[in-house]
Amino acid sequence: MTVNIDLSKSGIDLKDLLKYKEQIEIIHKDLNRRANDEKDFVGWLELPTNYDKKEFARIKAAAKRIRKDSDILVVIGIGGSYLGARAVIDALTSNFYNMLPNKVRKFPKILYAGNNLSADYINDLIEAIGDSDFSVNVISKSGTTTEPAIAFRIFREILESKYGIEEARSRIYVTTDKERGALKQLADKEGYEQFVIPDNVGGRYSVLTAVGLLPIASAGVDIDRLMAGARVAQEKYADSNLKYNDCYKYAVARNILHKSNKKNIEILVNYEPKMHYFTEWWKQLYGESEGKDLKGIFPAGVDNTTDLHSMGQYIQEGRRELFETVININKPSSSLKINVDEDNLDGINYLSGKDLNYINKKAMEGVVEAHTSGDVPNIIVNIEKINEETIGHLIYFFEKACAISGGILGVNPFNQPGVEKYKTNMFKLLEKPGY
Ligand code: PA5
Repeated sequence: MTVNIDLSKSGIDLKDLLKYKEQIEIIHKDLNRRANDEKDFVGWLELPTNYDKKEFARIKAAAKRIRKDSDILVVIGIGGSYLGARAVIDALTSNFYNMLPNKVRKFPKILYAGNNLSADYINDLIEAIGDSDFSVNVISKSGTTTEPAIAFRIFREILESKYGIEEARSRIYVTTDKERGALKQLADKEGYEQFVIPDNVGGRYSVLTAVGLLPIASAGVDIDRLMAGARVAQEKYADSNLKYNDCYKYAVARNILHKSNKKNIEILVNYEPKMHYFTEWWKQLYGESEGKDLKGIFPAGVDNTTDLHSMGQYIQEGRRELFETVININKPSSSLKINVDEDNLDGINYLSGKDLNYINKKAMEGVVEAHTSGDVPNIIVNIEKINEETIGHLIYFFEKACAISGGILGVNPFNQPGVEKYKTNMFKLLEKPGY
Protein backbone atom coordinates (compact mmCIF):
# COMPACT_ATOMS: atom_id res chain seq x y z
CA MET A 1 0.00 0.00 0.00
CA THR A 2 1.46 3.38 -0.96
CA VAL A 3 -0.23 5.32 1.85
CA ASN A 4 -1.93 4.11 5.01
CA ILE A 5 -2.61 5.31 8.52
CA ASP A 6 -1.70 3.72 11.81
CA LEU A 7 -3.77 4.72 14.83
CA SER A 8 -2.04 2.38 17.29
CA LYS A 9 -0.23 5.32 18.93
CA SER A 10 -3.25 7.59 19.01
CA GLY A 11 -5.01 6.01 21.96
CA ILE A 12 -8.18 5.74 19.86
CA ASP A 13 -9.85 2.38 19.64
CA LEU A 14 -11.71 1.21 16.59
CA LYS A 15 -15.01 0.98 18.47
CA ASP A 16 -14.99 4.70 19.30
CA LEU A 17 -13.90 5.55 15.79
CA LEU A 18 -16.72 3.59 14.23
CA LYS A 19 -19.30 5.51 16.25
CA TYR A 20 -18.88 8.14 13.53
CA LYS A 21 -19.83 5.72 10.77
CA GLU A 22 -23.30 7.12 10.09
CA GLN A 23 -22.25 10.75 10.28
CA ILE A 24 -19.47 10.02 7.81
CA GLU A 25 -21.89 8.35 5.38
CA ILE A 26 -23.98 11.55 5.40
CA ILE A 27 -21.01 13.88 4.85
CA HIS A 28 -19.67 11.57 2.14
CA LYS A 29 -23.00 11.61 0.29
CA ASP A 30 -23.30 15.36 0.59
CA LEU A 31 -19.79 15.90 -0.86
CA ASN A 32 -20.45 13.58 -3.80
CA ARG A 33 -23.75 15.28 -4.53
CA ARG A 34 -21.96 18.63 -4.72
CA ALA A 35 -18.94 17.48 -6.77
CA ASN A 36 -20.33 18.49 -10.14
CA ASP A 37 -22.11 21.66 -9.07
CA GLU A 38 -20.41 24.49 -10.94
CA LYS A 39 -21.52 26.97 -8.30
CA ASP A 40 -20.14 25.03 -5.36
CA PHE A 41 -16.52 24.45 -4.28
CA VAL A 42 -16.23 20.70 -4.44
CA GLY A 43 -14.79 20.42 -7.96
CA TRP A 44 -11.45 19.19 -6.55
CA LEU A 45 -13.15 15.92 -5.51
CA GLU A 46 -13.10 14.50 -9.04
CA LEU A 47 -10.23 16.55 -10.40
CA PRO A 48 -7.82 13.61 -10.78
CA THR A 49 -10.19 12.05 -13.34
CA ASN A 50 -12.23 15.04 -14.43
CA TYR A 51 -9.82 17.71 -15.64
CA ASP A 52 -9.34 19.67 -18.83
CA LYS A 53 -7.07 17.37 -20.89
CA LYS A 54 -6.42 20.01 -23.54
CA GLU A 55 -5.27 22.50 -20.96
CA PHE A 56 -3.12 19.78 -19.37
CA ALA A 57 -1.32 19.35 -22.70
CA ARG A 58 -0.92 23.13 -22.96
CA ILE A 59 0.65 23.17 -19.49
CA LYS A 60 3.24 20.62 -20.62
CA ALA A 61 3.94 22.60 -23.79
CA ALA A 62 4.35 25.83 -21.82
CA ALA A 63 6.72 24.11 -19.38
CA LYS A 64 8.79 22.91 -22.33
CA ARG A 65 8.96 26.43 -23.75
CA ILE A 66 9.98 27.87 -20.38
CA ARG A 67 12.71 25.26 -20.12
CA LYS A 68 13.99 26.22 -23.54
CA ASP A 69 14.06 29.99 -23.16
CA SER A 70 14.50 30.57 -19.42
CA ASP A 71 17.06 29.92 -16.69
CA ILE A 72 14.53 30.97 -14.08
CA LEU A 73 10.76 30.82 -13.70
CA VAL A 74 9.39 33.41 -11.27
CA VAL A 75 6.17 32.05 -9.79
CA ILE A 76 3.99 34.87 -8.48
CA GLY A 77 1.16 33.96 -6.12
CA ILE A 78 0.15 33.69 -2.47
CA GLY A 79 -1.76 31.25 -0.23
CA GLY A 80 -3.52 28.62 -2.30
CA SER A 81 -1.99 30.14 -5.41
CA TYR A 82 1.52 29.44 -4.12
CA LEU A 83 1.91 26.82 -1.42
CA GLY A 84 0.82 23.74 -3.36
CA ALA A 85 3.31 24.27 -6.17
CA ARG A 86 6.12 24.93 -3.73
CA ALA A 87 5.18 21.91 -1.59
CA VAL A 88 5.32 19.54 -4.56
CA ILE A 89 8.42 21.03 -6.17
CA ASP A 90 10.38 20.96 -2.92
CA ALA A 91 9.26 17.42 -2.08
CA LEU A 92 10.16 16.03 -5.51
CA THR A 93 13.38 17.81 -6.39
CA SER A 94 16.80 18.07 -4.75
CA ASN A 95 17.00 19.85 -1.40
CA PHE A 96 19.39 22.18 -3.24
CA TYR A 97 17.56 22.30 -6.57
CA ASN A 98 18.11 25.99 -7.30
CA MET A 99 21.80 25.74 -6.37
CA LEU A 100 22.62 22.85 -8.70
CA PRO A 101 24.62 23.62 -11.84
CA ASN A 102 22.36 23.94 -14.92
CA LYS A 103 23.70 20.71 -16.40
CA VAL A 104 22.67 18.72 -13.36
CA ARG A 105 19.38 20.53 -12.71
CA LYS A 106 18.32 20.43 -16.39
CA PHE A 107 15.20 22.51 -15.68
CA PRO A 108 14.82 26.20 -14.79
CA LYS A 109 15.33 27.42 -11.26
CA ILE A 110 12.02 28.16 -9.59
CA LEU A 111 11.89 31.38 -7.56
CA TYR A 112 8.81 32.77 -5.86
CA ALA A 113 7.38 36.27 -5.54
CA GLY A 114 4.10 37.90 -4.59
CA ASN A 115 3.83 36.03 -1.29
CA ASN A 116 4.84 38.97 0.93
CA LEU A 117 5.11 42.77 0.86
CA SER A 118 8.82 43.01 1.59
CA ALA A 119 10.86 45.40 -0.55
CA ASP A 120 14.02 43.62 0.58
CA TYR A 121 12.68 40.33 -0.71
CA ILE A 122 11.85 41.70 -4.16
CA ASN A 123 15.12 43.63 -4.43
CA ASP A 124 17.07 40.52 -3.43
CA LEU A 125 15.13 38.50 -5.99
CA ILE A 126 15.88 41.01 -8.74
CA GLU A 127 19.55 40.82 -7.76
CA ALA A 128 19.44 37.03 -7.79
CA ILE A 129 17.92 37.00 -11.28
CA GLY A 130 20.61 39.37 -12.53
CA ASP A 131 21.19 38.87 -16.26
CA SER A 132 19.55 35.45 -16.37
CA ASP A 133 16.79 34.78 -18.85
CA PHE A 134 13.49 34.39 -17.06
CA SER A 135 9.75 33.96 -17.47
CA VAL A 136 6.89 34.69 -15.12
CA ASN A 137 3.86 32.63 -14.13
CA VAL A 138 1.43 34.88 -12.26
CA ILE A 139 -1.30 33.00 -10.42
CA SER A 140 -4.35 34.55 -8.79
CA LYS A 141 -7.88 33.19 -8.80
CA SER A 142 -9.51 36.49 -7.85
CA GLY A 143 -7.00 38.39 -9.96
CA THR A 144 -7.11 41.20 -7.42
CA THR A 145 -4.88 40.06 -4.57
CA THR A 146 -2.51 42.87 -3.57
CA GLU A 147 0.75 40.96 -3.04
CA PRO A 148 0.86 39.15 -6.42
CA ALA A 149 -0.52 42.23 -8.23
CA ILE A 150 2.37 44.36 -6.95
CA ALA A 151 4.98 41.70 -7.74
CA PHE A 152 3.54 41.18 -11.22
CA ARG A 153 3.64 44.89 -12.01
CA ILE A 154 7.31 44.98 -11.01
CA PHE A 155 8.39 41.86 -12.92
CA ARG A 156 6.31 42.73 -15.99
CA GLU A 157 8.14 46.06 -16.17
CA ILE A 158 11.50 44.31 -15.84
CA LEU A 159 10.58 41.80 -18.56
CA GLU A 160 9.39 44.54 -20.89
CA SER A 161 12.50 46.66 -20.46
CA LYS A 162 14.78 43.62 -20.82
CA TYR A 163 13.12 41.94 -23.82
CA GLY A 164 10.78 44.57 -25.32
CA ILE A 165 6.96 44.37 -25.14
CA GLU A 166 6.57 41.58 -27.72
CA GLU A 167 9.06 39.11 -26.31
CA ALA A 168 8.00 39.95 -22.76
CA ARG A 169 4.48 38.89 -23.74
CA SER A 170 5.71 35.44 -24.71
CA ARG A 171 7.41 35.06 -21.32
CA ILE A 172 4.31 35.77 -19.25
CA TYR A 173 1.91 32.96 -18.28
CA VAL A 174 -1.26 33.88 -16.44
CA THR A 175 -3.29 31.47 -14.31
CA THR A 176 -6.59 32.99 -13.24
CA ASP A 177 -10.38 32.87 -13.42
CA LYS A 178 -11.95 32.21 -16.80
CA GLU A 179 -13.78 35.53 -16.90
CA ARG A 180 -13.48 37.68 -13.77
CA GLY A 181 -10.85 39.89 -12.19
CA ALA A 182 -8.27 42.55 -13.01
CA LEU A 183 -5.63 39.98 -13.95
CA LYS A 184 -7.98 38.38 -16.47
CA GLN A 185 -8.66 41.77 -18.07
CA LEU A 186 -4.97 42.57 -18.24
CA ALA A 187 -4.16 39.16 -19.72
CA ASP A 188 -6.86 39.56 -22.38
CA LYS A 189 -5.68 43.04 -23.29
CA GLU A 190 -2.02 42.01 -23.55
CA GLY A 191 -2.66 38.63 -25.13
CA TYR A 192 -0.78 36.60 -22.50
CA GLU A 193 -1.12 32.82 -22.54
CA GLN A 194 -3.77 31.92 -19.99
CA PHE A 195 -4.66 28.93 -17.82
CA VAL A 196 -7.93 28.61 -15.97
CA ILE A 197 -8.66 27.98 -12.31
CA PRO A 198 -12.03 26.19 -12.38
CA ASP A 199 -14.85 28.08 -10.64
CA ASN A 200 -15.67 25.17 -8.38
CA VAL A 201 -12.13 24.66 -7.04
CA GLY A 202 -11.08 26.99 -4.21
CA GLY A 203 -7.52 28.31 -3.84
CA ARG A 204 -6.23 25.88 -1.23
CA TYR A 205 -7.72 22.89 -3.07
CA SER A 206 -6.24 23.94 -6.43
CA VAL A 207 -2.75 22.41 -6.54
CA LEU A 208 -3.84 19.80 -9.10
CA THR A 209 -5.07 22.49 -11.52
CA ALA A 210 -2.85 24.77 -13.62
CA VAL A 211 -2.23 26.69 -10.36
CA GLY A 212 0.19 24.02 -9.24
CA LEU A 213 0.77 22.05 -12.41
CA LEU A 214 2.52 24.69 -14.54
CA PRO A 215 5.23 25.55 -11.99
CA ILE A 216 5.52 21.87 -11.03
CA ALA A 217 5.96 20.73 -14.65
CA SER A 218 8.44 23.57 -15.22
CA ALA A 219 10.62 22.11 -12.47
CA GLY A 220 10.76 18.81 -14.37
CA VAL A 221 8.30 16.94 -12.17
CA ASP A 222 6.21 14.36 -14.04
CA ILE A 223 2.67 15.73 -13.71
CA ASP A 224 1.16 12.63 -15.34
CA ARG A 225 2.49 10.55 -12.47
CA LEU A 226 1.36 13.14 -9.93
CA MET A 227 -2.19 12.98 -11.30
CA ALA A 228 -2.00 9.18 -11.47
CA GLY A 229 -1.17 9.12 -7.74
CA ALA A 230 -4.12 11.38 -7.00
CA ARG A 231 -6.33 9.13 -9.13
CA VAL A 232 -5.37 6.09 -7.07
CA ALA A 233 -6.35 8.05 -3.97
CA GLN A 234 -9.62 9.21 -5.53
CA GLU A 235 -10.57 5.61 -6.14
CA LYS A 236 -9.28 4.32 -2.83
CA TYR A 237 -11.07 6.92 -0.69
CA ALA A 238 -14.37 6.72 -2.57
CA ASP A 239 -15.60 4.06 -0.12
CA SER A 240 -18.24 5.60 2.15
CA ASN A 241 -17.57 2.94 4.79
CA LEU A 242 -15.38 4.46 7.50
CA LYS A 243 -14.09 1.03 8.46
CA TYR A 244 -12.30 0.66 5.12
CA ASN A 245 -11.37 4.27 4.40
CA ASP A 246 -8.06 5.50 5.88
CA CYS A 247 -8.69 9.03 4.74
CA TYR A 248 -11.96 9.17 6.68
CA LYS A 249 -10.29 7.47 9.65
CA TYR A 250 -7.75 10.29 9.79
CA ALA A 251 -10.54 12.89 9.68
CA VAL A 252 -12.43 11.16 12.48
CA ALA A 253 -9.35 10.45 14.60
CA ARG A 254 -8.32 14.10 14.71
CA ASN A 255 -11.85 15.09 15.70
CA ILE A 256 -11.98 12.48 18.46
CA LEU A 257 -8.71 13.76 19.83
CA HIS A 258 -10.06 17.30 19.65
CA LYS A 259 -13.52 16.72 21.09
CA SER A 260 -13.00 13.95 23.62
CA ASN A 261 -9.39 14.55 24.61
CA LYS A 262 -9.38 18.36 24.41
CA LYS A 263 -6.49 18.39 21.95
CA ASN A 264 -6.74 21.74 20.19
CA ILE A 265 -3.47 21.74 18.28
CA GLU A 266 -2.34 19.28 15.62
CA ILE A 267 1.32 19.23 14.67
CA LEU A 268 2.26 17.72 11.31
CA VAL A 269 5.67 16.11 11.78
CA ASN A 270 8.17 15.16 9.08
CA TYR A 271 11.70 13.77 9.15
CA GLU A 272 12.65 14.92 5.64
CA PRO A 273 13.55 18.61 5.15
CA LYS A 274 12.03 18.51 1.65
CA MET A 275 8.63 18.08 3.23
CA HIS A 276 8.77 21.49 4.94
CA TYR A 277 6.56 23.22 2.37
CA PHE A 278 4.23 20.26 2.24
CA THR A 279 3.53 21.08 5.88
CA GLU A 280 3.05 24.75 4.99
CA TRP A 281 0.51 23.71 2.34
CA TRP A 282 -1.24 21.43 4.86
CA LYS A 283 -1.31 24.21 7.46
CA GLN A 284 -3.10 26.52 5.07
CA LEU A 285 -5.50 23.80 3.96
CA TYR A 286 -6.61 22.98 7.50
CA GLY A 287 -6.23 26.46 8.99
CA GLU A 288 -8.37 28.25 6.42
CA SER A 289 -10.82 25.40 6.09
CA GLU A 290 -11.53 24.80 9.78
CA GLY A 291 -10.63 27.92 11.70
CA LYS A 292 -14.00 29.71 11.82
CA ASP A 293 -17.14 30.11 13.90
CA LEU A 294 -14.84 30.04 16.96
CA LYS A 295 -13.97 26.43 16.11
CA GLY A 296 -11.08 24.50 14.60
CA ILE A 297 -7.98 22.50 15.44
CA PHE A 298 -4.96 24.81 15.15
CA PRO A 299 -2.57 23.34 12.54
CA ALA A 300 1.12 23.60 13.31
CA GLY A 301 4.19 21.85 11.94
CA VAL A 302 7.67 20.70 12.88
CA ASP A 303 10.59 19.55 10.77
CA ASN A 304 12.43 16.84 12.68
CA THR A 305 14.95 16.19 13.88
CA THR A 306 15.75 19.92 13.49
CA ASP A 307 12.83 21.09 15.62
CA LEU A 308 13.42 18.55 18.37
CA HIS A 309 16.13 21.00 19.36
CA SER A 310 13.72 23.92 19.45
CA MET A 311 10.12 22.76 19.91
CA GLY A 312 10.80 19.29 21.34
CA GLN A 313 10.80 20.51 24.95
CA TYR A 314 7.37 22.11 24.59
CA ILE A 315 5.88 19.11 22.86
CA GLN A 316 7.20 16.78 25.57
CA GLU A 317 6.29 18.83 28.63
CA GLY A 318 4.31 21.95 27.74
CA ARG A 319 0.51 22.37 27.82
CA ARG A 320 -1.15 19.04 27.08
CA GLU A 321 -3.39 20.17 24.23
CA LEU A 322 -1.31 18.75 21.39
CA PHE A 323 -1.46 15.76 19.14
CA GLU A 324 0.84 14.90 16.27
CA THR A 325 0.38 13.48 12.80
CA VAL A 326 3.67 11.95 11.72
CA ILE A 327 4.57 11.40 8.07
CA ASN A 328 6.64 8.22 8.04
CA ILE A 329 8.48 7.51 4.79
CA ASN A 330 9.26 3.80 4.58
CA LYS A 331 11.87 3.85 1.81
CA PRO A 332 14.04 6.96 1.64
CA SER A 333 15.31 7.90 -1.83
CA SER A 334 19.03 7.58 -1.08
CA SER A 335 21.30 6.12 1.56
CA LEU A 336 24.45 7.18 3.39
CA LYS A 337 26.62 4.94 5.57
CA ILE A 338 28.58 6.27 8.55
CA ASN A 339 32.28 5.36 8.33
CA VAL A 340 34.49 4.12 11.17
CA ASP A 341 36.96 6.62 12.55
CA GLU A 342 39.93 5.03 14.32
CA ASP A 343 40.30 7.81 16.88
CA ASN A 344 36.57 8.01 17.58
CA LEU A 345 37.10 11.41 19.18
CA ASP A 346 33.52 12.37 18.32
CA GLY A 347 32.30 9.23 20.10
CA ILE A 348 30.00 8.09 17.34
CA ASN A 349 31.75 4.88 16.30
CA TYR A 350 28.79 2.97 17.74
CA LEU A 351 26.96 4.22 14.64
CA SER A 352 29.60 3.22 12.10
CA GLY A 353 28.38 0.94 9.38
CA LYS A 354 24.82 2.16 9.99
CA ASP A 355 22.80 4.00 7.41
CA LEU A 356 21.73 7.57 8.21
CA ASN A 357 18.15 6.58 7.31
CA TYR A 358 18.26 3.92 10.02
CA ILE A 359 19.39 6.51 12.56
CA ASN A 360 16.66 8.91 11.39
CA LYS A 361 14.08 6.12 11.76
CA LYS A 362 15.27 5.26 15.27
CA ALA A 363 15.02 8.96 16.15
CA MET A 364 11.44 8.94 14.88
CA GLU A 365 10.54 5.80 16.84
CA GLY A 366 12.13 7.24 19.98
CA VAL A 367 10.22 10.50 19.59
CA VAL A 368 6.88 8.76 18.96
CA GLU A 369 7.37 6.72 22.17
CA ALA A 370 8.45 9.75 24.18
CA HIS A 371 5.62 11.99 23.01
CA THR A 372 2.86 9.42 23.28
CA SER A 373 4.00 8.51 26.80
CA GLY A 374 3.88 12.25 27.54
CA ASP A 375 0.18 12.36 26.54
CA VAL A 376 0.72 13.63 23.00
CA PRO A 377 -1.21 11.09 20.89
CA ASN A 378 0.33 10.29 17.50
CA ILE A 379 -1.40 9.45 14.25
CA ILE A 380 1.11 7.91 11.83
CA VAL A 381 0.69 8.36 8.08
CA ASN A 382 2.91 5.77 6.37
CA ILE A 383 4.03 6.44 2.84
CA GLU A 384 6.12 4.01 0.86
CA LYS A 385 8.54 6.60 -0.53
CA ILE A 386 8.52 10.16 -1.76
CA ASN A 387 7.69 10.20 -5.46
CA GLU A 388 5.15 11.76 -7.81
CA GLU A 389 2.54 9.07 -7.15
CA THR A 390 2.70 9.20 -3.38
CA ILE A 391 2.75 13.01 -3.24
CA GLY A 392 -0.28 13.13 -5.58
CA HIS A 393 -1.92 10.55 -3.34
CA LEU A 394 -1.13 12.49 -0.15
CA ILE A 395 -2.49 15.72 -1.60
CA TYR A 396 -5.81 14.07 -2.33
CA PHE A 397 -5.79 12.23 1.02
CA PHE A 398 -5.40 15.45 3.01
CA GLU A 399 -7.83 17.46 0.85
CA LYS A 400 -10.59 14.92 1.20
CA ALA A 401 -9.90 14.36 4.90
CA CYS A 402 -10.09 18.12 5.38
CA ALA A 403 -13.51 18.35 3.75
CA ILE A 404 -14.79 15.43 5.84
CA SER A 405 -13.25 16.83 9.00
CA GLY A 406 -14.87 20.23 8.38
CA GLY A 407 -18.19 18.40 8.09
CA ILE A 408 -17.65 16.66 11.44
CA LEU A 409 -16.65 19.94 13.05
CA GLY A 410 -19.72 21.66 11.62
CA VAL A 411 -17.99 24.38 9.60
CA ASN A 412 -17.92 25.23 5.90
CA PRO A 413 -14.44 24.05 4.83
CA PHE A 414 -14.58 25.92 1.52
CA ASN A 415 -14.88 29.57 2.54
CA GLN A 416 -12.53 31.99 4.31
CA PRO A 417 -14.60 35.00 5.39
CA GLY A 418 -12.11 35.90 8.12
CA VAL A 419 -9.32 36.91 5.76
CA GLU A 420 -11.30 39.97 4.62
CA LYS A 421 -11.08 41.73 7.98
CA TYR A 422 -7.41 42.69 7.84
CA LYS A 423 -7.72 43.59 4.17
CA THR A 424 -10.44 46.16 4.90
CA ASN A 425 -8.25 47.76 7.57
CA MET A 426 -5.17 47.70 5.37
CA PHE A 427 -7.01 49.20 2.39
CA LYS A 428 -8.46 51.95 4.60
CA LEU A 429 -4.98 52.77 5.86
CA LEU A 430 -3.66 52.77 2.28
CA GLU A 431 -6.57 54.98 1.18
CA LYS A 432 -7.67 52.56 -1.53
CA PRO A 433 -10.61 54.07 -3.44
CA GLY A 434 -13.91 52.74 -2.10
CA TYR A 435 -12.57 51.99 1.44
O1 PA5 B 1 -7.27 29.33 -0.33
C1 PA5 B 1 -7.58 30.47 -0.65
O2 PA5 B 1 -8.67 30.73 -1.18
C2 PA5 B 1 -6.62 31.62 -0.42
O3 PA5 B 1 -5.51 31.24 0.30
C3 PA5 B 1 -6.17 32.19 -1.75
O4 PA5 B 1 -5.56 31.17 -2.50
C4 PA5 B 1 -5.19 33.34 -1.57
O5 PA5 B 1 -5.77 34.35 -0.78
C5 PA5 B 1 -4.81 33.93 -2.93
O6 PA5 B 1 -5.94 34.33 -3.61
P1 PA5 B 1 -5.92 34.57 -5.17
O7 PA5 B 1 -5.60 33.32 -5.85
O8 PA5 B 1 -7.31 35.05 -5.47
O9 PA5 B 1 -4.88 35.63 -5.43
